[in-house]
Amino acid sequence: MKLNQKEQDMLNGREGPATQKAMEILTTLGRIYGAERMVPATSVQIAGVSYDNLGEAGLHFLQQMAEGGGRARVLTTLNPAGMDIENWQALGISPEFAKNQQRVLDAFAQMKVIATATCTPYLIGNTPHYGEHIAWAESSAVCYANSVIGARTNREGGPSALAASLTGVTPAYGFHLTENRRPAVTIKVQGKLPENNVFGALGKAIGQKLEAGGKKIAPYIHGVPEASVENLKSFCASIATYGGVALFHMEGITPEAAQFSPPTETIVVTQAEINAAIASMNMEASEAADFVSLGCPHLSIKEVARIAELLEGKKVTKEFWITTARPVKQIADMMGYTATIEASGAKIAADTCCVVAPIKGRFDTMVTDSAKACYYAFAKNNFKTALKPFDDVVAEATR
Ligand code: F3S
Repeated sequence: MKLNQKEQDMLNGREGPATQKAMEILTTLGRIYGAERMVPATSVQIAGVSYDNLGEAGLHFLQQMAEGGGRARVLTTLNPAGMDIENWQALGISPEFAKNQQRVLDAFAQMKVIATATCTPYLIGNTPHYGEHIAWAESSAVCYANSVIGARTNREGGPSALAASLTGVTPAYGFHLTENRRPAVTIKVQGKLPENNVFGALGKAIGQKLEAGGKKIAPYIHGVPEASVENLKSFCASIATYGGVALFHMEGITPEAAQFSPPTETIVVTQAEINAAIASMNMEASEAADFVSLGCPHLSIKEVARIAELLEGKKVTKEFWITTARPVKQIADMMGYTATIEASGAKIAADTCCVVAPIKGRFDTMVTDSAKACYYAFAKNNFKTALKPFDDVVAEATR
């Protein structure tokens, strides 16, 4: 790899051991993937924040980087942690876990990383523009950044995202290069997409077909007439989870789609296949649910407002987590949505989510509108799942 003088100095240790380690990580990655140079990374999002995933070994690495003088050089935010940083007791998190999670957050704070822990950084000000090179780690956010915004990022691991933050650069390979962003296959959607849960089911249906055919790179999606930000975040989370897709082009909706003609190889996704995907996530009738969760990916303020409207004057009968970014919760506080939601007995859980929080064994069946949450609820926590439209999920909490 060709490094400029500043990058070479960092690699030689002139800017301290943590920066040197970070540059070693990036040059190693660059060599493995055939990068010829670095590009400036102007925004970073780091995953692997929950102590549940990191453990002592991961925490030790972060502490070493912090002690070694590592400091964020560009705007850097975190993926969800294992708990609400301010209100963990209300979620039933143990004091022992909370102490360890706080040690993780302290290490990031020492490195001047903004401890806003969210998988939707694009909703709270870590928002790149079209064509910008960034280094993000959370799969749903990576897919959203590449596809919906048209920024350029590979799916970083926790260490490589941190390394990009501490150096301000990332190796130029993969989705940073124009030639790797071309679509290889057309997906023709033949079905109706009224709600987030159906967008999630579509993501599952497409993802599984691409995965089975070994074609994950840049599907060109035709037949989706309109999609809101909320629909797209749901779709991105699902197609990334079920198909490992980090970039798609959606005709008439995403910015790069207009640059390409649909590839001739075509896969059709029918209404019956979307329905089958929904059915596969309805493992249990939603009446059987003992846990209700909305906010995978983290909710927009528009979604929080809708929940408050639906819960006004009602009481929940089940544990109900509403997961979002802390800045979104702060707007909800200001607008009175939090008070309405909490008066119902539901819980706004900022900074965390139903997947990264340590809740295995606490519930049996979860109802949600998120196809991604269904996948991890079953795979990680062994919960049965029910997938419903957004409003129906809220209704289930008060049934
Ligand atoms: Fe976000 Fe947690 Fe879902 S990190 S995408 S809410 S699994």
